[in-house]
Amino acid sequence: MFQDQLVSYSGVQPSGNLTIGNYLGAIRNFSSYSEKYKCFYCVVDSHAITVRQVPADLRRRTYETLALYMACGLDPEKNTLYVQSHVHEHTDLAWILNCFTMFGELSRMTQFKDKSAKHSDNINAGLFTYPVLMASDILLYQTDVVPVGIDQKQHVELCRDIANRFNQLYPDTFTVPEPIMAKSGAKIMSLAEPTKKMSKSDENANAVVYILDDKDTIIRKFKRAVTDSDTCVRYAEGKDGINNLMTVYNAFTGKTFDEIEREFEGKGYGDFKMAVGEACADALAPVQQRFKEFMADKAMLEAQMKKGAEEASYVARRTLSKVQKKLGFVQVR
Ligand code: TRP
Repeated sequence: MFQDQLVSYSGVQPSGNLTIGNYLGAIRNFSSYSEKYKCFYCVVDSHAITVRQVPADLRRRTYETLALYMACGLDPEKNTLYVQSHVHEHTDLAWILNCFTMFGELSRMTQFKDKSAKHSDNINAGLFTYPVLMASDILLYQTDVVPVGIDQKQHVELCRDIANRFNQLYPDTFTVPEPIMAKSGAKIMSLAEPTKKMSKSDENANAVVYILDDKDTIIRKFKRAVTDSDTCVRYAEGKDGINNLMTVYNAFTGKTFDEIEREFEGKGYGDFKMAVGEACADALAPVQQRFKEFMADKAMLEAQMKKGAEEASYVARRTLSKVQKKLGFVQVR
């Protein structure tokens, strides 16, 4: 569909609370994807309402998510950035694919089990069929690769099963996508428990550094980071806290581990943590500045949303129409 270009598709929750783990591990590298792939990034507001949302917050976060991705370097001229509910083909296809997805398959999804335990007062049908909407997102764009974290891999596997099932009944309908782990980036661990991945939903506020944290907050969090009783800045087994801080420092400054060890020879952890905090805050400053500018210009963000939705609709409409034709729906135009 895109002159032999492969398609990459990713959905992004409208949370606005992205961490430096998201940034260093994935988002920062997304801008180079557009050299290799035709890339779609979708703010998935329809997915978000499977759990209760405060309307004003959802609205603000939808703008914020778009602004933040742009601030992190995603160029809307090179990528298609849009909002899920602006392209109604997603929910149209989701209904159809619901009829090709088994109750048993959805019951086995670990995220459904986790979320229904967490929101036991609201186990709605949308929460259950969440992966079908996600499959629709992906399949509408004839996607080749889906960059996801490990927690979404099961959903992409289900998407592949649905696509294969549909293709068996109606040949050559969907491209069957591959999940890819964005492993070009660094894996950043929690500052409080450095054996655990940094997670935006961690209850311990000191464990996580957000892209939008101000400089003082960033430095305070790094100052409190868990280290060890050794006093030497070096990368070694068992020194999870220091290893993690070295990984962060390396990712923000480009200095190798050897260089970092030499830089902090004979210095204490206090100096090192301070340097990591400074490097992080300095590197994020331009991202935060751009974010602020973009958020102050709602008209620009809305124009981008509109442009993205038009680009996305063009592709989505073609796939949906093909599916409807194959199923025997009458098309009058
Ligand atoms: N479920 C994904 C998450 O929670 C978001 C998502 C929705 C997505 N649709 C997608 C990711 C399509 C990749 C492709 O992170």
